[in-house]
Amino acid sequence: MGVEIKIEKPRPKRIGAHSHIRGLGLDEKGKALPVADGLVGQLEAREAAGIVVNMIKEGRIAGRGILLVGPPGTGKTAIAIAIARELGEDTPFVAMSGSEIYSSEKKKTEILMEAMRRALGVRLREKRLVYEGVVQELKIRRARHPMVPYMTVPKEARITLATKDEELTLTVGEEITHQLLELGVRRGDLIWIDAETGRVYRVGKVKGVEKARYYDIETHKVVEMPRGPVKKEKEIVRTFTLHDLDVYVASQRALISFFTIGVEREIPPEVRKEVDDMVKKWIDEKKAEIIPGVLFIDDAHMLDIEAYSFLSRAMESDLSPIIILATNRGIAKIRGTDIESPHGIPLDLLDRLLIIPTRPYKPEEIREIIKIRAEEENIKLSDEALEELVRIGAETSLRYAVQLMEPARIIASVNGREQVSVEDIRRVAKIFIDTSRSVKYLKEFEEKFMK
Ligand SMILES: Nc1ncnc2c1ncn2[C@@H]1O[C@H](COP(=O)(O)OP(=O)(O)OP(=O)(O)O)[C@@H](O)[C@H]1O
Ligand SMILES: [Mg+2]
Repeated sequence: MGVEIKIEKPRPKRIGAHSHIRGLGLDEKGKALPVADGLVGQLEAREAAGIVVNMIKEGRIAGRGILLVGPPGTGKTAIAIAIARELGEDTPFVAMSGSEIYSSEKKKTEILMEAMRRALGVRLREKRLVYEGVVQELKIRRARHPMVPYMTVPKEARITLATKDEELTLTVGEEITHQLLELGVRRGDLIWIDAETGRVYRVGKVKGVEKARYYDIETHKVVEMPRGPVKKEKEIVRTFTLHDLDVYVASQRALISFFTIGVEREIPPEVRKEVDDMVKKWIDEKKAEIIPGVLFIDDAHMLDIEAYSFLSRAMESDLSPIIILATNRGIAKIRGTDIESPHGIPLDLLDRLLIIPTRPYKPEEIREIIKIRAEEENIKLSDEALEELVRIGAETSLRYAVQLMEPARIIASVNGREQVSVEDIRRVAKIFIDTSRSVKYLKEFEEKFMK
């Protein structure tokens, strides 16, 4: 099956403000602890999210979606991030904002389609012919650089791999030698080399083989010395997303060069069809399974009617990730129409969604959250400064209060103080206004603004 794909993992964006969140903070029974994993309060929403995580893990949520609704700054995005943390690395989680569908290069539906396919994992089991063993000896032969005579380049390597039962010495070419150097392979490392593609994988370090000193700080996974022959068939499990496969197939057909991917090129529908057929075949042959991941669309009210109907349709298909939407809108117009609807979402889609509400925080909860964020951002607040932020958070929004901390820290530090004082907070709250004051200000001076 020889699929050799480089995956570039899309890192969740917009994470800075939520870096303190480690999970949903639930106990074994799924009950939310008042303060855990960086989350505070919002107990019911967190418990609901925990049930969603279980449904996802058990693969029982196809064709459904989740909607997080609540006023600004009540933790909708935070809870979605916590869901991602709970799901772990192996389940794809794609986060986007509703506004990302508006692009000059790609169609809205193409952007959504791509996001959905990034959120669908394919776990592929392959039998590959490999050389696997612990590195007993590694000698690199260098040759003169073809153009720069005083430089040498690695040309080939002699590598001795051992198992408990066998030892085998291989001479490998330039390509593999480069990988060995790049991975920093040394004596005592357990590695395997794909016999067909020459790809090298470093598994970990085998205890007791290497007595020499190490200079690297990196911690190594300690593994057992394998048994059996060095050259053997090995079952390898790898996870791709459907989007990875789309890109791979498209580049194979030379429809798009590998290098232009990610740079605004659309994947042709025939390619997606081919990938779907290929994956279905693998599934029939029991070589692969689908891992439905999560497509999280934040600020879903930015989507329009076209996007919503695409999503409704997509949720029907058997290849659909779990879609989680979040919005802070009440009754609002559905974008692209004159129709009003709860949360600005068409009723037929709303009908398919499980809705999780988030509620405004009590002052104690705001205090806890601000304390956590202050710690996370390494900001020292005086007691009065903290209380002022709690008051501001309760009066305006938690987000606003959290956002004031960094500018306040800068003012304090410019004045040679380590600790943020209540005056610093008042000062920044005066120069940076919150939305409701900004609206008031606009109204007051409306006629003076440019029209
Ligand atoms: N329960 C919570 N525990 C800890 N931190 C929280 C909690 N709720 C919110 N936060 C933090 O407060 C800030 C604002 O919350 P968040 O962005 O999640 O609100 P939101 O409901 O998504 O708001 P909006 O509707 O404006 O998008 C973030 O930094 C978030 O991580
Ligand atoms: Mg949000």
